[in-house]
Amino acid sequence: MSLLFSPASFRSLTLKNRLVVAPMCQYSAKGGIANDYHFAHLARFALGGFGAVIVEATAVTPEGRISYGDLGLWSDEQVAPLARIAAVLRSQGTASGIQLAHAGRKGSSPIWWRGHFNESDEEKREVGFEDWQVVGPSAIPQVPNSPEYKVPHALTVAEMDAIRDAFVAAARRSQAAGFDFVEVHSAHGYLLHQFLSPVANKREDEFGGSRENRMRFPLSVARAVREAWPADKPMFVRISAQDGIDGGWTVEDSVVYAQALRDLGADLIDVSSGGFAGGRIPVGPGYQVPLARRVKHEAGIPTMAVGLITRAREAEEVIEDGDADLVALGRMALDDPNWPVHARHELDRTEQAYAAWPKQSGFVVRHKDQALRERGYADAE
Ligand SMILES: Cc1cc2nc3c(=O)[nH]c(=O)nc-3n(C[C@H](O)[C@H](O)[C@H](O)COP(=O)(O)O)c2cc1C
Repeated sequence: MSLLFSPASFRSLTLKNRLVVAPMCQYSAKGGIANDYHFAHLARFALGGFGAVIVEATAVTPEGRISYGDLGLWSDEQVAPLARIAAVLRSQGTASGIQLAHAGRKGSSPIWWRGHFNESDEEKREVGFEDWQVVGPSAIPQVPNSPEYKVPHALTVAEMDAIRDAFVAAARRSQAAGFDFVEVHSAHGYLLHQFLSPVANKREDEFGGSRENRMRFPLSVARAVREAWPADKPMFVRISAQDGIDGGWTVEDSVVYAQALRDLGADLIDVSSGGFAGGRIPVGPGYQVPLARRVKHEAGIPTMAVGLITRAREAEEVIEDGDADLVALGRMALDDPNWPVHARHELDRTEQAYAAWPKQSGFVVRHKDQALRERGYADAE
């Protein structure tokens, strides 16, 4: 029996298996509104057998977008297209999550798959191009003198309160859209991580300086979202477990942060890393799994492992070895949206594995494999 394909419960939510699609910005929205592309892109993961899908970083204010193409939940008109996505996931037995985010000083940057600001005037009108003044804990840019990153305005406490309220309002809209869980984005060098890390936070008030002070704003956001989010639904938090920069945020800091998140009612820590320019993060298969393991065991909270997990056996071992409770796939899911049904088949050679496919296709895939086997094709095995 595969542990990867065993159910996992958080509050009243049960995931049918432990495979999750990691949040991945598609930079394809206009005015923050999801469209048919987002619907098709996310629905295919439900048909592919994932236990949960997390909708990409969704900005809680217009200025909190990474680019003008991000999704948003700062307005009621943004709810209905997301509700359609939550509904299609549910209809296929896949739990729906949404990542609530504020980009801070990394906002108003180029669309990733473009690489630069290279939109023609005509295209700008077509795609709804916008740029804006970005904000952060301190007036320090992500990269100095860069065409991609602006110098942020250092937030006042009143402005921080307004951002916290925007997270709460977005959580309420996520509930209106019917999502099963929310994930607070506190990783990858975006606003909450900017507050946590001495790399970006040089404040001299009660939100800067000591670790306790730097955690104050991110924890107040997580607490406010937890209070606004229904008590029977789980809240996840994504963190960068380390910056990979001398004098930056460390795994030891993450354990303390995760304990505080656990104490305020977070249900799982989604453990990533990096996000600031110059971070040295050695990348390889499963490179962040040891970080998920440390946070899980040292902070005493369930975790999700992510980062170059590509093979069925590797994902199974993450769960078997007690490194994490869930496994998230990013690029592998884009490469093969049917990854779970294939993995299930690889891990479980019995007829039951075909049950992971939608009922409309599982039985014919089985017939296809049988026909190939009878004709001696080894790859049907
Ligand atoms: C196209 C793309 C968009 C991404 N957008 C987000 C995002 O919206 N929020 C986030 O926390 N991480 C984002 N990530 C990071 C992924 O969630 C994931 O952590 C990372 O890709 C490592 O996992 P992988 O090796 O399985 O792809 C993105 C990654 C990719 C490839």
